[in-house]
Amino acid sequence: MEPTHISDLPTSVLFDFASGAFEPFLQYTQRKVSDLHEMFADQQAVAEILKNGDRLVYDIRYHPFRTSNSDMSLGVTRIQPGTIGGEYHMTKGHYHEREDQPEIYFCVHGTGYLLMETRDGQFQAAPWKPGAITHIPGMWAHRVVNTGSDELFFVASYHLAAGHIYAPVVERGFAQIVVEQNGQPVFLPNPRRV
Ligand SMILES: [Fe+2]
Repeated sequence: MEPTHISDLPTSVLFDFASGAFEPFLQYTQRKVSDLHEMFADQQAVAEILKNGDRLVYDIRYHPFRTSNSDMSLGVTRIQPGTIGGEYHMTKGHYHEREDQPEIYFCVHGTGYLLMETRDGQFQAAPWKPGAITHIPGMWAHRVVNTGSDELFFVASYHLAAGHIYAPVVERGFAQIVVEQNGQPVFLPNPRRV
């Protein structure tokens, strides 16, 4: 973020619980299938989608609240409904660079799971619906999966100093994948680790 955003004054932003609109935001990121192609188990299904064009999987609007001595931030993520090779749309997922930096995720709209995993192999999937709030300790990688037929919105609160590490998730994914079978979400062992 630009240092020009530093302010020691109280700051308010507005989040619309019905639509997911978040104003003002200072940064906007889109993740399309092409940005996430390594994350899905069925690479043939990814290639088929990309052959016929790309599509949005999720977007994030950020508002950092930098002061002269702190760096809290909010991110609002909206995951579109859908599957790729049967695997539900999901965020890329990451570890934090700093293991003393936790994060709070607050599910506002939609249905899914928050997948969490440590480097030593602990795995948890928190069932998510509106109102579910999860504290993610600093050592746990985190990824949100949208298993519903509607958009899933969640709000993330964290310190910018936490940093992001994507490489282990890109290389190995999470312990389990979430796929649609007969219209229901089912957890399967990650085929990349079998
Ligand atoms: Fe995070």
